[in-house]
Amino acid sequence: MNTTCRIELDGTSHEFPVVRGTEDERAIDISTLRDRTGYITLDDGYGNTGSCRSAITFIDGDRGILRYRGIPIEDLAGKSSFVEVAWLVIFGRLPTIEDRDRFSALLTEHSMLHHSMRKHFEGFPPNAHPMAILSAMINALSCHEPDVMDIEDEATLEVAAARLMSKVRTIASASYKSSIGAPLIYPRMDLKYVENFLHMMFSVPYREYEPPPEVARALNLFLVLHADHEQNCSTSTVRMVASSQANMYASCSAGVCALWGPLHGGANVAVIEMLEFIRRSGMNVHEYVDRVKNKDSRLRLMGFGHRVYKNFDPRSKILKQAADDMLESLNLSDPLLDIALKLEEIALNDPYFIERKLYPNVDFYSGIILRAVGLPLNMFTVMFAIGRMPGWIANWKELHDDPKARIYRPRQVYVGEAKHGWEPREDR
Ligand code: ACO
Repeated sequence: MNTTCRIELDGTSHEFPVVRGTEDERAIDISTLRDRTGYITLDDGYGNTGSCRSAITFIDGDRGILRYRGIPIEDLAGKSSFVEVAWLVIFGRLPTIEDRDRFSALLTEHSMLHHSMRKHFEGFPPNAHPMAILSAMINALSCHEPDVMDIEDEATLEVAAARLMSKVRTIASASYKSSIGAPLIYPRMDLKYVENFLHMMFSVPYREYEPPPEVARALNLFLVLHADHEQNCSTSTVRMVASSQANMYASCSAGVCALWGPLHGGANVAVIEMLEFIRRSGMNVHEYVDRVKNKDSRLRLMGFGHRVYKNFDPRSKILKQAADDMLESLNLSDPLLDIALKLEEIALNDPYFIERKLYPNVDFYSGIILRAVGLPLNMFTVMFAIGRMPGWIANWKELHDDPKARIYRPRQVYVGEAKHGWEPREDR
């Protein structure tokens, strides 16, 4: 096995160390390349660039493996609640009963927003997108939490993480309530994490909402499956911001913005819009797939494809089964699920998708679950953000705790105009 890599440049040979990860992933450490050779590497979209060493999440995209802190997602999905998984992701070990109770108590204790924050909601127009509100309000939270801005020990981190995870849930439901012009609902001290969120979303002053157990279970699973996913677009954004030593709230607020786009977390909305379009137009599913394959259409099969998974996305498998189980036990049917199943079947047998290794990703079936929970479409990516919060916090902490961490500052290859002079206005 190579422990170094030799690069030949301008007739000179240079050796660089090869770094190996726990699961034998290999990387060439080129951190001294520019100093030694004057060259940099160029990697559009960072497809071949390892931006850090991380001990949080392991993915083997060719074998469809996802593990948080070494534990397979399939085990966690069946056995752990979102709160337990969040603690595992952030602190690196499964919580003891004591850890779990302490963290749950903190989540309950910190679910209220500072009263003045309620005024901010009144400043957004009624149709403001909840992702914009979420990002703005997470950043605004930092103004109210000066006591946890300096996080130098695990106890402070635990309080800061609990506040963020708990208040994000309150902000999300408040942004929904304000978007429909309804009164904001206070959190309840007797409810668990997911149930409390559903209460704030769906209770009204004259009627308490009590979710069926299947609904709470499915949402809990959704959050567990979204808790972390190593160096994706939003997590890399969180780390990028964190690398300037920005606080955890500012960094996670930036993560929300990165998640919003349809190629990332916004895909769970785009999938439902696509399925709705097919249903409403009455278009044959084969015809839609043909349109996607036609490059001129610039259409993509939303919820398909992944930068890392080239075999299957294990989260999609779990969610597909969960969507099916949930609809059956609630005695519901969803025509969009039927269309999704057909699309998947056609795509998985089509050479276009086979050759490009395109499989359903986490977003393909998650929307079916969120619809069955009763969540409005514009809240779907917000749900992703609530789920991803532990991963963002864990990545922020990993960078914050690394004594060798440097500010993230990629280079570029300049391809603009060569030097030329300023021209007087009348000569332009
Ligand atoms: N539908 C049709 N064709 C696709 C799709 C798709 N969903 N995804 C990729 N392709 C094609 C591309 O057109 C390209 O074809 P070409 O080689 O003929 O040019 C090839 O497959 C490779 O695609 P890239 O864009 O280079 O793949 P990349 O790794 O950059 O993108 C991404 C990954 C963004 C997820 C992409 O597959 C995509 O756009 N999927 C749809 C959006 C989506 O579901 N996003 C959610 C991802 S999961 C998450 O973020 C939580």
